[in-house]
Amino acid sequence: MEIKSAKYLISSPDYTKCPAPDRPEYAFIGRSNVGKSSLINMLCNNDKLAKTSSAPGKTQMINHFIIGSESVKEKASAKNTAWDGWYIVDLPGYGFAKVSQSARRRWEQMIENYLRKRENLTMVFVLIDSRHSPQKIDLEFLDQLRKWDVPFSIIFTKTDKESQAIVSKNVKAFFAAMKKTWQFLPQHFTTSAVKKQGRDKILAFIEETNNRGEE
Ligand code: GTP
Ligand code: MG
Repeated sequence: MEIKSAKYLISSPDYTKCPAPDRPEYAFIGRSNVGKSSLINMLCNNDKLAKTSSAPGKTQMINHFIIGSESVKEKASAKNTAWDGWYIVDLPGYGFAKVSQSARRRWEQMIENYLRKRENLTMVFVLIDSRHSPQKIDLEFLDQLRKWDVPFSIIFTKTDKESQAIVSKNVKAFFAAMKKTWQFLPQHFTTSAVKKQGRDKILAFIEETNNRGEE
């Protein structure tokens, strides 16, 4: 699948203010500064789409982008049509130390409501920094998703910053930690926004998931 158009739509402080839930939606979440906005830009081939920053806490609201894509099927039939088919959502990060208790509570409530009540939410991508050994805060977040029955996949980010050996060691360690309480392990991807690693696989996965929803 190739992305034909990607447009910023709206930033919402609350799930009730989000656009009509009339198409598949893929949300990106993870620790503050893990690379959510950069990954979205990499997938869409547009560095100016989602705002990124080296200072954590950049993304504050629920940000919707509308994506028009050309599926492999359409390409094969040479119709060359772009389908304004699905949403990408950029969410604020968790675990940002420099916020007040009340701001954190507000964030938690906004995200919990969005994740539990957004009816067209197809898949949540949980981003994990590939440079680190398993972090409690990420494992706890996954436990929450299980409790809320939210479907998710994992994306390990910033693989260009470490050697391949360290990345695979950290990925293995993360799944070993998950195995202690999870019966099934989720689908996962390894990515670098700098090197554009993982783009084709994630887009193929989204296409497959969209097609499954149409059947
Ligand atoms: P918040 O919105 O603050 O939660 O952060 P975020 O998760 O959206 O992270 P963002 O995309 O803003 O990236 C944070 C920093 O990490 C920026 O300085 C990016 O340039 C950098 N970064 C993101 N992805 C990668 C990557 O794959 N490789 C490298 N080397 N740097 C990255
Ligand atoms: Mg961001």
